[in-house]
Amino acid sequence: MSKIIIANWKINPLSVSEAVKLAKKEDIKGVVIASPFVFLESVGKILKHAELAAQNTFWEEKGAYTGEISAQMLKNIGVKYVIIGHSERRRLGETDKIINKKITAAIKADLTPILCVGEPLNIRKKGLTVAKKFVKNQLQLDFKNANKLIKLKAKSLIIAYEPVWAIGTGIPDNPSSAAEMHKFIKNFLKTKNYRLKAEVLYGGSVNAKNAASFLNRPEIDGALVGGASLNPKEFRMIVDSINNKIKK
Ligand code: PGA
Repeated sequence: MSKIIIANWKINPLSVSEAVKLAKKEDIKGVVIASPFVFLESVGKILKHAELAAQNTFWEEKGAYTGEISAQMLKNIGVKYVIIGHSERRRLGETDKIINKKITAAIKADLTPILCVGEPLNIRKKGLTVAKKFVKNQLQLDFKNANKLIKLKAKSLIIAYEPVWAIGTGIPDNPSSAAEMHKFIKNFLKTKNYRLKAEVLYGGSVNAKNAASFLNRPEIDGALVGGASLNPKEFRMIVDSINNKIKK
C-alpha cells in the first residue's frame, strides 16, 4: 500500500523563489506539500506529481472577515487538502469549536481536511490510556456538528496524530505506542460509519533516521513532516523509507 507524506513548511521559506525551488525537489508522487498561503499558487503551478495543501483556512466562504482566507478560495487555486487544528494553532487559541467549523467549511468546499490531534506531555505522562481518552475527546468535539455533512459529502479524510510534546522537539513518540494510538483512532472512525477513505498519519520529529520505524507499520498510513521537510535531501530519504518505495 502506498503511503502519504505531508511536508508542512510552516512559515518557511521567506520568498516565492525559494518556495518554488523547494517544491521542485519535493514534487514526488504520494507527497502533499503544505505551503504558506502566499506561495500556494506559484507552487501549485510547478507541481506535476505532488498535491497541494494549505496550512489553515477560515470557516466562512466570503464576506466581511478582514485578513481571512476561505476554503473555497483555496479550492479555486488548486488546493486539495487543508491542515486544520495543528497544535501550533491550538496553542494560539484555536478551539475545538473553531476547528469544528473549519472542518465543515473544508468539506463544503470539497477539500480533504488533515485534522491534527494529539495530547500534551502532562497527559501522556499519565499513560497511553489517558492519552487515548484525550484524543477521543478532541475527535468528538472536532467532528461534532460535521458528522452528517461528512457522511453525505466527504470523500476522504486525514487524521494526523501528533503528540504535542513530539512536535519540533527531536523526541518522537515510540513507534509501537504511536501504532496503538493509530489503531485506536481508526476504531473510533469505524464507529462513525463515515463511508469514506480515512487515513491516519503520524507527526512529530519524523526524520530520515526514524521514518521507516513509523512508515513500515501497517496501522500508520503516512507521516506529517515539519522541520525535516525543509531539507529536500532528508525529505527524499523519508519518502524512500517506505517499504514499497514511491516512484517518481
Ligand atoms: P516536526 O513538525 O516534524 O518539526 O516535529 C511536525 C508538525 O508540526 O507537523
